[in-house]
Amino acid sequence: MDRLLDASRTSDDIGEVSLRPQVLTEYIGQKDLKDNLTVFIGAALKRNETLDHVLLYGPPGLGKTTLAYIIANEMHGEITVVNGPAIEKTGDLASILTKLKPGDILFIDEIHRLPRVVEEVLYSAMEDFMLSIVVQRDAGAKTINVPIPPFTLVGATTRAGDLSSPLRARFGIMEKLNFYTIDEIKDIVNRTARVFQTTIDEEACTEIAKRSRGTPRIANRLFRRVRDFANFRGEDHITSDDAIAALNALKVDSLGLDDVDIKYLNTVIERFKGGPVGLESLAAAIGEESMNLEDVYEPYLLQLGLIDRTPRGRIATPLAYKHLKKDHQGSLF
Ligand code: ADE
Repeated sequence: MDRLLDASRTSDDIGEVSLRPQVLTEYIGQKDLKDNLTVFIGAALKRNETLDHVLLYGPPGLGKTTLAYIIANEMHGEITVVNGPAIEKTGDLASILTKLKPGDILFIDEIHRLPRVVEEVLYSAMEDFMLSIVVQRDAGAKTINVPIPPFTLVGATTRAGDLSSPLRARFGIMEKLNFYTIDEIKDIVNRTARVFQTTIDEEACTEIAKRSRGTPRIANRLFRRVRDFANFRGEDHITSDDAIAALNALKVDSLGLDDVDIKYLNTVIERFKGGPVGLESLAAAIGEESMNLEDVYEPYLLQLGLIDRTPRGRIATPLAYKHLKKDHQGSLF
């Protein structure tokens, strides 16, 4: 059973847990989502009901797990955290569901990767709080219905489109997380600095924010490394020199692009003459999984306007040539 629980956290993640805001009012950014959740949670509490099931979707690192913990806290429920692909059998899900108490939150991360048989058991659990399991008996198959406590499922996915329609239809609340603005990331970095009892220059904070791809998880990771540079000097105050030294050492460029992003853009421009190139060919040329490119790398490149998706494939935009200082033959200018 324990293997199903999220035991994959590292020491850096432990920092991440303590960094997490506990209540919605402390959560920075995602204003529309926050406004909606405030009403839905407030109303459910007033009616003394469980909150409707919530689907959170959007690129990785934007705070879906953090929101699940906040929802549990605000609803005064306990949270059980599991990863979709780790629930292999219907029995695994049954054992999780029967341990829940009324009003608890079940957070399923990567819910689009739940095995189909498990997903089908989830339907009646979500809809009627009923566990319907088919058991094989000597005399044939028999369905057992077991009531389970009313609970709220919070599902998270980077690919809402990959969810089957019956599963999607069972979420009463669906909210998309968007990339954060630079100002919002600056607020998050300043908050993180306070949690770590460190001070940080405005310029250093801006530098981290500009290179964080609008993603708090990346901002917090960069913050830790920048802080290492200050601590290594024997200081608890972070200057812009620390920020620039750390960010250069980490090879994060002025837009926050890393080695894979740069390789992506260079490959489209040089090998495929600017595109259009199909995702699979591109993934093979770069040596990355196509799903990883689509979920992790492309959303931000699209947001920056460095690439475009066309019906015939991906293309590099003039902005990409400008950022890489390349002409249309792919040579440096
Ligand atoms: N840490 C990570 N994401 C955050 C957010 N949106 N607000 C405050 N702290 C955060």
